[in-house]
Amino acid sequence: MKLSTIFSVALMTVGLGGLTQAQADITLRNALTGEVLDLSFAKKGGNTEIFKQFMQTGKNPYNTDAEAVKKGESLYMTGCSGCHGHEAEGKLGPGLADDYWTYPRAASDQGLFEILFGGANGMMGPQYVNFSSDELLHIMAFIRHIYKGDPKKAEWLKH
Ligand code: HEC
Repeated sequence: MKLSTIFSVALMTVGLGGLTQAQADITLRNALTGEVLDLSFAKKGGNTEIFKQFMQTGKNPYNTDAEAVKKGESLYMTGCSGCHGHEAEGKLGPGLADDYWTYPRAASDQGLFEILFGGANGMMGPQYVNFSSDELLHIMAFIRHIYKGDPKKAEWLKH
């Protein structure tokens, strides 16, 4: 390869990098400390196109995807139902299908992801230990699907 070619390829790479950054991803924060979440802890394989989309909009594209809801249900049954109940009615942890939230941010997709990824108090540890970011979005879609609260309080449906 000619030196000038190498140089222009390098320039393009830098340029593209800059472009991606310019698309201003949302900033995810820990629900307890407000610290920016370190996504480098995330399990491998979860940085999917859908997750990237979520990082740009703060909206979970899986909410309207019936297949994703089904997969989310099975992941929820494995990793969450033991504490939150099979219908998210609440057990050791609070109910997740009604419109009362200990952490009001849970009413938005961004906030719900922040609680799942970063954890909250006591037994609610960071869920990145068990699930990839993409899997967490699946679980979130299932939680939204079984919502029984007031539709007016469903922040995630608002634009
Ligand atoms: C070992 C038990 C346990 C497991 C497993 C667990 N949680 Fe929790 N969860 C809790 C407890 C206890 C709380 C209350 C923590 C607090 O108030 O800070 C909680 C809080 C939450 C909240 C905040 C609810 C609110 O009202 O603001 C959400 C959302 C949540 N959990 C979702 C999940 C999901 C989804 C999973 C599976 C990926 C999961 N949890 C796994 C015990 C658990």
